[in-house]
Amino acid sequence: MKRKKLFQVFMLAIASSITLNAQNRLTIEADQEKGAISRHIYGHFSEHLGHCIYGGYWVGEEASIPNTRGIRNDVVEALKDVRIPNLRWPGGCFADEYHWMDGIGPRDQRPKMVNTHWGGVVEDNSFGTHEFLDLCEQLDAAPYISGNLGSGTVEEMSKWIEYITFDGESPMANLRRQNGREKPWKVKFWGVGNESWGCGGNMTPDFYSDLYRQYATFCRNYGDNRLYKIACGANGDDYNWTETLMRKAGGRMNGLSLHYYTVPLNWNDKGSATNFDEAEYFATIRKTLFMNELITRHSTIMDRYDPYKRIGLIVDEWGTWYNVEPGTNPGFLYQQNTLRDAIVAGINLNIFNNHSDRVKMANLAQTVNVLQSVILTDEEKMVLTPTYWVFYLYKVHQDATLLPVSFTGNKYRHGNEDIDAVSVSASKDATGKIHVTLVNADLSNEQRIETQLRGISAKKVTGKVLTSAKINDYNSFEQPSNITVKDFKGATLSGGSALSVVLPAKAVVMLEIE
Ligand code: AHR
Repeated sequence: MKRKKLFQVFMLAIASSITLNAQNRLTIEADQEKGAISRHIYGHFSEHLGHCIYGGYWVGEEASIPNTRGIRNDVVEALKDVRIPNLRWPGGCFADEYHWMDGIGPRDQRPKMVNTHWGGVVEDNSFGTHEFLDLCEQLDAAPYISGNLGSGTVEEMSKWIEYITFDGESPMANLRRQNGREKPWKVKFWGVGNESWGCGGNMTPDFYSDLYRQYATFCRNYGDNRLYKIACGANGDDYNWTETLMRKAGGRMNGLSLHYYTVPLNWNDKGSATNFDEAEYFATIRKTLFMNELITRHSTIMDRYDPYKRIGLIVDEWGTWYNVEPGTNPGFLYQQNTLRDAIVAGINLNIFNNHSDRVKMANLAQTVNVLQSVILTDEEKMVLTPTYWVFYLYKVHQDATLLPVSFTGNKYRHGNEDIDAVSVSASKDATGKIHVTLVNADLSNEQRIETQLRGISAKKVTGKVLTSAKINDYNSFEQPSNITVKDFKGATLSGGSALSVVLPAKAVVMLEIE
């Protein structure tokens, strides 16, 4: 009798696990197109902070590290391989202390300053406007310059734009020529202040809105250079900031930013980048998923003032923020990057894709050696992080057409909490290929997903996967290829429209359907 009971319990457990796994249902409307996913969603952010600029990009012309006019070749090549679409610079908090004229002219004559935000180190200004725009040209990426509204002047910002973009006779254009650049550069993306609610001046939304209107007036379009002016947006869930900015200055901006970082614990003790348990991992994913609510709610406010979605929501700082690596300068924000970061990146990028009617740009903080980097360097050595490989997998979405997806599926449960286990987005590229990016955040359970492809008869599916044995595995200078992209064999097509996918636990997958 007892054995019979045990058998029944066993069968019930199997049946319920089958039912659980049978719940994952995905529909991709392959013949419905929802508009373009701007390639600028795959943008990056690099600040004068720690070893992001100095050591990360800039080694100087005399360095033994292979470089082109002082800029590391290995870093440029790696970023070109993920098709970096734009680069935001010079900050961050640094931007509102930066005086651009200190960073032009002969390098040995440039004044030095103290980088008060980031470690109190000396900034010698050897990387300035010309070097940054050279970097963007080498990367074939659009520059996104963040102007100083916090401690600068209207005149200073206005002259910077004239210096960079004016082709005629003028004091600033002539100064540029004197410094070796005859033709102006094209700069479209222009930020008018950064985090003006915090390090950029601790302003109220009303005060900033008025200042924004003033500064933006003197951000001129020279020749055919058309600025896309980005106003400082909210800190996370400060919906009042968005409401005020849209009401008072919405008619004068092209983009409104949003900053949101994934901090597993709290701002005093953010948690370790590599040494964390499942509770901390779960909290990281839960907080990452909050990005969806943030974008939805900020967009709802923007929709009231801008129903035709003329103004882009620009998520120009996102990513994980942990305690710095032990023994490193606390002001340099240097952190390792594990498979957990790849999961976070995959989820965020799927969220941005699915909101690409409103999200027109996003910038991961920060490209090299700072926060959720895609690249780490140590002198001549370079490592591509798990986050890098997510950008590598997802580059197929750049400028592709978003396809609507609907998903019902399993939850990832930890303790008493449930969150979505699977995140997904899909697009169709110019050649008609469909790409689906999927993340399984669940640490232990694979996900079987029955997918219906509506409106097409598919002939072939291939895929790539990023995963590893442990969630805190990472690529080190000693083992740079510990985590890398591999071929994925877990997807099978039948009858042209039914696709079965077995997503491994803690994995990011990209499928290509032809
Ligand atoms: O990315 C690091 C800092 O985070 C930026 O300088 C600032 O804008 C934000 O608070």
